[in-house]
Amino acid sequence: MNFVEFLEKTPYYTSKVYRYGEGPPAHSYAPGYYVDAFADRYAPINILEIGIYNGESMRIWDDWFVNGNIYGIDIDCTSVDRANERNLSNRVQLFCGDAYSQEVVDTFEDNFFDFVIEDGSHRPQDQCNAVNLWLPKIKSGGKMIVEDLPGLDIAESVVNFADKSMISSSKIFDLRYMKDYYWPDDILVELVKI
Ligand SMILES: C[S@@+](CC[C@H](N)C(=O)[O-])C[C@H]1O[C@@H](n2cnc3c(N)ncnc32)[C@H](O)[C@@H]1O
Repeated sequence: MNFVEFLEKTPYYTSKVYRYGEGPPAHSYAPGYYVDAFADRYAPINILEIGIYNGESMRIWDDWFVNGNIYGIDIDCTSVDRANERNLSNRVQLFCGDAYSQEVVDTFEDNFFDFVIEDGSHRPQDQCNAVNLWLPKIKSGGKMIVEDLPGLDIAESVVNFADKSMISSSKIFDLRYMKDYYWPDDILVELVKI
């Protein structure tokens, strides 16, 4: 079973869950990007997502990465509380704090994460700043993923803003035309740590 097939079966809903025409509209990140990036379900990875909200994506990472350690951070402490009510496994750790603050970022070890997903404030300035704040915390070969970019110009700004001494490659995934409706911020950037 690949990641898209898994999502089709999951009862959880976030806009990351794309069910090929069923249910509410959603992003195309799963078929357009995560199906390959998250191909190794059994790897003992460390993954952090900025932005927990109701904890639905935490449940997805928890169920998909069966040997993974899942970290979530949200500035809204009630998000952490809601997620903690969702029967997450003991491989999930949630934190309340500002993910764009150096002080909070520095509570995590350097070269630790395989993936950091930015799905927080969605403000372009934060989307740019998050990259250089979090890249030191990512392992060599690990990935910084910035979701929900509101245009190719902002996606290019994220790439341009990234400290080139910390990345080996960058790629913009423009998924706005992948399905039968147009979702304006269906754009994702992947940066690979050097
Ligand atoms: C789109 S929701 C996250 C959705 C979740 N990742 C999912 O897929 O189900 C965005 C979340 O980012 C959080 N957020 C906004 N600014 C933040 C910040 N500075 N630091 C951490 N979290 C932030 C919001 O409180 C909100 O819960």
